Amino acid sequence: MTTTPDTRPENRVLIFDTTLRDGEQSPGATMTHAEKLEIAELLDEMGVDIIEAGFPIASEGDFKAVSEIARQSRNATICGLARANYKDIDRCWEAVKHARSPRIHTFIGTSPLHRAIPNLTQDEMAQRIHDTVTHARNLCDNVQWSPMDATRTEWDYLARVVEIAIKAGATTINIPDTVGYTAPVESADLIRRLIAEVPGADEIIFATHCHNDLGMATANSLAAVEGGARQIECTINGLGERAGNTALEEVVMALKVRHDILPWDTGVDTRKIMNISRRVATVSGFPVQFNKAIVGKNAFAHESGIHQDGMLKNAETFEIMRPEDVGLAGTSLPLGKHSGRAALRAKLRELGFEMADNQLNDTFVRFKDLADRKKEVYDDDLIALVRQNEAVS
Ligand code: KIV
Ligand code: ZN
Repeated sequence: MTTTPDTRPENRVLIFDTTLRDGEQSPGATMTHAEKLEIAELLDEMGVDIIEAGFPIASEGDFKAVSEIARQSRNATICGLARANYKDIDRCWEAVKHARSPRIHTFIGTSPLHRAIPNLTQDEMAQRIHDTVTHARNLCDNVQWSPMDATRTEWDYLARVVEIAIKAGATTINIPDTVGYTAPVESADLIRRLIAEVPGADEIIFATHCHNDLGMATANSLAAVEGGARQIECTINGLGERAGNTALEEVVMALKVRHDILPWDTGVDTRKIMNISRRVATVSGFPVQFNKAIVGKNAFAHESGIHQDGMLKNAETFEIMRPEDVGLAGTSLPLGKHSGRAALRAKLRELGFEMADNQLNDTFVRFKDLADRKKEVYDDDLIALVRQNEAVS
């Protein structure tokens, strides 16, 4: 079989979303069939390049979900996961083959710790990799191979098995930081060195797949791109095992906002980020932390007086991206005990109250008194304050 030449420009980074596979592996994040189809459709619409829709051999439900997502997808490549055995790979192909553009993703743990589990010698594992990638490639012309725990695999062995997988027909080699152990400088160096030293490496795409155990998944993914990776594997809201995977919204927005030093493009329509983030939070049952980058409730909220005053004068004082660019209606200036007169006046205006300075001062004193007792002062609280003021004056 021949591979289709990749005609995308040099500076294009592919976004591979694994919310429905690695994300769903998060304990307690199971989604229903209908929910998976809905999330896949949102991913397809927002412009991700590859959707890893599930692990077809894992259950009948996963098989059905991957098959149906393969049938419904209009734009994205649909990928399924398979361990390094023929049965898994055949089942995966049965599910993804309905897609306009199918991909088989097969993997095996290559680090000493992971090699010990199936109790394979280095040579036996190398043979297994050759045989399974060859088998996958005989079924599908788009094959991704991953050496699980790559970042804790000895360099010589990693380089050897990557070469074997490429020769056997893998079109994408994914380098997983399975336990979130690597640091950004290593992440970049590893990909750079693989591309420079492994024969055939310049013919295929390298992917980065980072977990967030030390909170470095986004930094490691971006560093890998600097090292030459052209596919980032990620999930919505960073959903995933333990501390999660690289968050899609973080890498995509980092590439957009810091295009000056990270000059790579994605095909993602960033205005669709908030909606899918909320849907994933709801269907997975994993709420988004308030201060989560990009999609947290507070990511575009400013409470303190100095910040609110700055924001009212020029949004760039405290925001590096426009809320509209991630699908929010606008910035929020919640009123609390740190807020100042400027934000109070702006809020009152929004509620239809125009006040002279002395009136505003009275209301401000009452507002501060209330804010000391309440975490957040809502619109109804303010309306009540104004009415009280009117009644005493
Ligand atoms: O984290 C990991 O190593 C994985 C592989 C299956 C790619 O998710
Ligand atoms: Zn993973």
